[in-house]
Amino acid sequence: MADSLAQAKYSALTWNTPLSEAHATDLLGRLQLSEAKSIVDIGCGWGELLLRAAALAGPDIKATGVDTDQLLLDRGARNALERNIAAEFVQQRGEEFRGTADRAVCIGSSHTLGGTREMLKRLAEVVPRGRVLVGDNCYDSPPAKEVVDVLGEGILTLVEIVQLCRETGWEVLHLSTADQREWDDFESGHRAGPREWLLAHPDDPQAAEVRELHDGREREYLGAYRGVLGLVYLVLGR
Ligand SMILES: C[S@@+](CC[C@H](N)C(=O)[O-])C[C@H]1O[C@@H](n2cnc3c(N)ncnc32)[C@H](O)[C@@H]1O
Repeated sequence: MADSLAQAKYSALTWNTPLSEAHATDLLGRLQLSEAKSIVDIGCGWGELLLRAAALAGPDIKATGVDTDQLLLDRGARNALERNIAAEFVQQRGEEFRGTADRAVCIGSSHTLGGTREMLKRLAEVVPRGRVLVGDNCYDSPPAKEVVDVLGEGILTLVEIVQLCRETGWEVLHLSTADQREWDDFESGHRAGPREWLLAHPDDPQAAEVRELHDGREREYLGAYRGVLGLVYLVLGR
C-alpha cells in the first residue's frame, strides 16, 4: 500500500503551487523563452512549468530540473519522454547546483537556496544576464503570532521581497499574486489524491494516520492562513 499512497500524494496537482492555467501561461510568456538557449528549474518537483517553458522555447533549449525527491523527478522525466521534450531531471540539492543559464525558475523553493534573500542572490549568479520566474510565499502585512506559530519564521511581506529584488540587482518586470481561487484549488488538490486513496483503502493500517495528517493541514489552512498567506510570482530581469 505504501507505493500507491506515495503515488497518490500529488496526483491531483498539475504543479505544486497555487497557480491557474491562465496565470501560468501569462507568466511563462513574460520570460521571452524564444530567446533562451538554456533554462534551469531549482526545486522543480516534477517540473511541469519547466516542461512547458521548454516547449515554448523550442527543441534546442537545454532544460534542467533540480530537486531532491527522486519520485517527483521520475514523474517529470516520464512526462518529458511522453511529450518528446529533451529535459534532464537531476537529483541534487538546490544549494549545490553550479551551472549558469539564460532563464531560471524557482517556485515555492526559496528554501532550497537558503531563503528569499539568498535565493535572489544565488539566482543572480545562475542567470548573470536574462530573466527568472520566482514564486515565493509572502504576506501583505506583518502576520499575527498565531500565523507564525503555524507557518514558522522567514516569510516576508510583499514590500520586503520587492526591496530585496532591488538590493540584489534585479529589475521587477512583473508581479502578480495567487488569488483565493488558486489557493483553494491548490490546497484542495494537495489533499485530493490522499483522500481518493482513503476512499479506495478505508481499512488500510495507515488510513487513520493519513486522515489525521490531511485533516490537520486542512484545519491549519482554514483556521490560520487562508486569505493571510500569499504567493507572489515575480518575473525578474538583469
Ligand atoms: C513547493 S515544492 C516546489 C514546486 C515546484 N517548483 C513546482 O513548480 O511544482 C518544493 C520542492 O522543493 C524540493 N526540495 C526540498 N528541499 C530541497 C533541496 N535542498 N534542494 C532541492 N529541492 C528541494 C521538494 O522536493 C519539492 O519538490
